[in-house]
Amino acid sequence: MSKKSQMDIFQSLRKDVFGALEEAADFDAILKIEAESLGKSGRLTNILKSLKDMPSAERLVIGSTANALKKEIEEKMKEKKEEIGKKIKTEADKAEWVDVSIPGKKIKRGHLHPISRILDETSAIFESMGFEMVEGPEAETEYYNFDALAIPKNHPARDMWDTFWLKEPKDQISLNDRSKLLLRTHTSPNQIRYMEKHQPPLRIIVPGRCFRYEATDATHDFQFYQLEGLMIGEKTNLAELKGAIELFFKLLFKDKNLQIRFRPGYFPFVEPGVEVDIKLSQSLEWLEIAGAGMVHPSVIKAVKLNPNQWQGFAFGMGLDRIAMLKYKINDIRLFYSGDLRFINQF
Ligand code: DAH
Repeated sequence: MSKKSQMDIFQSLRKDVFGALEEAADFDAILKIEAESLGKSGRLTNILKSLKDMPSAERLVIGSTANALKKEIEEKMKEKKEEIGKKIKTEADKAEWVDVSIPGKKIKRGHLHPISRILDETSAIFESMGFEMVEGPEAETEYYNFDALAIPKNHPARDMWDTFWLKEPKDQISLNDRSKLLLRTHTSPNQIRYMEKHQPPLRIIVPGRCFRYEATDATHDFQFYQLEGLMIGEKTNLAELKGAIELFFKLLFKDKNLQIRFRPGYFPFVEPGVEVDIKLSQSLEWLEIAGAGMVHPSVIKAVKLNPNQWQGFAFGMGLDRIAMLKYKINDIRLFYSGDLRFINQF
């Protein structure tokens, strides 16, 4: 090859490489140019490789021109890499820039629903008295909600609990009459459920949502929370019931002068049955707050225990009513309204 055409090759190589470098926008593009010119079989590398076959005079000229061009390209590449590196960094810095003088946004904190708060406090108090908290289903069977609690079909006492009956599931798996489904009207069915599986002596509380087919007003909702209590032992008695309930309310309302009174009441699953009233020390009125009593022998029998050996007390209280009293809320329906203006106050 003539020296002249060899010089042309250098010229066009130089033009191509410098042109491409000028346009290169990122590291990948530079690496590509580098491979094509200075790589293993790059254009300039190939020229350098062919030097050894050239006559010595030619080798001297071509060789030094090629080496000079190599150096020039390497320098330009280094420059270009630095330039791109700087550009990337500035962009990253720009993206990360934080104006520390902008006032912060207030992070919204969640609020516990008042019923949750009452439930937390209630369970802590009863747990300190040795009661264990358990739970049961909201969709309950007629058997647990009524029959096992000595409230048989057609018994007038059933009218005390207006019931939402559930449609029979189509694929009912050979269940008998006992299993007609309803939304539990109270938490008392869990007395049966628990005693069927656990041997006394026992002490449990069972919180849960209950439902009644009722018109609503400020003190009634079709849904509400109850807390059931059950203590069974060989000598458990009414005085212990009174002691436990009194202590509970005194601790919950942080009122050591709170008074408690029992009035006779009727619930089919207790005998005797009582209505529990409390009077806060700064109040003049007695408030009806719970139902309770000594567990009826027929309930003890329903779970195949011997009523001559085991006896105990049970109670049921409305957590909504307690929360209304404690937080001075005047409409039970607010609890289930989902209104954040209400919840945010707690
Ligand atoms: N389950 C009753 C109701 O919803 C409340 C109740 C009364 C529960 C007396 C009891 C009890 O455990 O002994 O009206």
